[in-house]
Amino acid sequence: MVYLNPDIDKAWLNLNKEYKRFCKTDMRTLFEKDEKRALKYTLALDDLTLDYSKNRFDENVLKALTDLAKVCGVEQKRDEMFSGSKINSTENRAVLHTALRNRSNKPVFVDGRNVMGQINDVLAKMKKFSDDVRYGKFRGYTGKKLTNIVNIGIGGSDLGPVMVCEALKKYWLKDIHCYFISNIDGTAAAETLKDLDPETTLFIVASKTFTTIETLTNAKTCRKWLVDALGEHAVDKHFVALSTNKEKVTEFGINPENMFEFWDFVGGRYSLWSAIGLIIAIAVGFENFEKLLDGAFSMDEHFKTAPLSKNMPVMMALLGVWYNNFYGIHRYCVVPYDEYLKYLPAYLQQLDMESNGKGVDKDGRFVKYSTGPAIFGGAGTNVQHSFFQLLHQGTDVVPVDFIIPAISHNEIGEHHQILLSNVLAQGEALMLGKTVAEAAAELKRAGKSDEEIAFLKKYKAFTGNRPSNTILLKKIDPYALGQIIALYEHKVFVQGVIWNINSFDQMGVELGKQLALNILPEIQGKSFAIEHDSSTMNLIKKIKSLRK
Ligand code: F6P
Repeated sequence: MVYLNPDIDKAWLNLNKEYKRFCKTDMRTLFEKDEKRALKYTLALDDLTLDYSKNRFDENVLKALTDLAKVCGVEQKRDEMFSGSKINSTENRAVLHTALRNRSNKPVFVDGRNVMGQINDVLAKMKKFSDDVRYGKFRGYTGKKLTNIVNIGIGGSDLGPVMVCEALKKYWLKDIHCYFISNIDGTAAAETLKDLDPETTLFIVASKTFTTIETLTNAKTCRKWLVDALGEHAVDKHFVALSTNKEKVTEFGINPENMFEFWDFVGGRYSLWSAIGLIIAIAVGFENFEKLLDGAFSMDEHFKTAPLSKNMPVMMALLGVWYNNFYGIHRYCVVPYDEYLKYLPAYLQQLDMESNGKGVDKDGRFVKYSTGPAIFGGAGTNVQHSFFQLLHQGTDVVPVDFIIPAISHNEIGEHHQILLSNVLAQGEALMLGKTVAEAAAELKRAGKSDEEIAFLKKYKAFTGNRPSNTILLKKIDPYALGQIIALYEHKVFVQGVIWNINSFDQMGVELGKQLALNILPEIQGKSFAIEHDSSTMNLIKKIKSLRK
């Protein structure tokens, strides 16, 4: 690490020393030596518990990590974010997803203007509209109730709403069905529309910029589908827009009165708390949408007030930095043991990787250290039967977050007890492992011959010492979900501060978009003049010949 600030340099050097001192220590030993370890390293907020004891650290490491957070100014930068400072430096914008769920309603200022008024106005508009759709006051053009709600959006205008809607499926109004079209692949629209009735379908076009090619192309296709069936006059009753860009919404042909506004101080991947959450409010009701905001607000308050060493997002962030920058572990896995949370890993991929996948720091220097890790995951127990082999015995260590509700919405027979026993067993297995001697003894007990034991014992052994966090909640309800999402948002924020990067732009997605615009006319046979590398040229040629 090379920084200009000597205090930060010192904190990093100290962590280097801590790493050298500590890196050979095994978690098994730490647990054996300290029977209070789990209690010491468990944090709680309402019914949410974070057990981070199964990580590679001791008191001295934690102290060195919290010192790093202090000298990097985590607390000061956190306060700047909450107060509306323009911390998104490359876009000169405030970062105020927290204002969207500021349930205290205390003023938050951007450029000297309190933004709470406009936020509350949009929330009120969302409440009215979602109630009207749910209870059949706002109806389709032919007078039928709108029961099929289709969100057209991509990235942050899709992943948050789809993840939350799925997570809260148990709370959906009985006759409301939600659909999501995001991919430009025509299959997404075709497969969704084929079963829908235009008379009962409401389209929500969600796009912060209203310039995203995937969303506009999908919206155009859906608009045509509706107009072909019901005529142009039906559009006002079947299309609403969620955006910051009134001009483009109008230009597209959606009545600006049907537009729910948000603002450039809300990042796309942080926008589910804004008008982008409209489909959530329609599906689960506005009261539940408010509970989601309440949960996030409770985590915001915790993040703002808990001391660094008792602060959930800070602790998760620091452990991530510890693995990433000192152990050289650049992967990270999230496994919710709940079918309703199956889209959480995909949501977190955008949140974390689009925020912290950066290589230039806030002072314009190429960074000389690793930033955001690669994230993957999926719902347990399914993933135990796919990639967990690598987590247990692969040569790469992958820290895991397990997320588990104590109570299921579907307590059928033994299902949930089996699920619970599995998630706990995975954390235990990763941490404890199984020595070669233990494996050999087990084989002996199973009646294997000495020859078989000698051959099999290493295959049956587990190195262990593999880290995991366990996030335990009572039940997946809107409040708890709000807490979990905000927990991850703030974790990502803290890591961004420590790496001195801007977590709130996404310039890395632009080059591909730019080049696609060059290639499109070539695929369409409208232009041939552009030079590409020989591989791209060749592929264009092949595609064109296959499509003839
Ligand atoms: O992938 C880039 C990105 O800008 C994301 O950050 C954003 O969530 C997504 O595209 C969609 O953008 P929009 O809401 O403007 O259509």
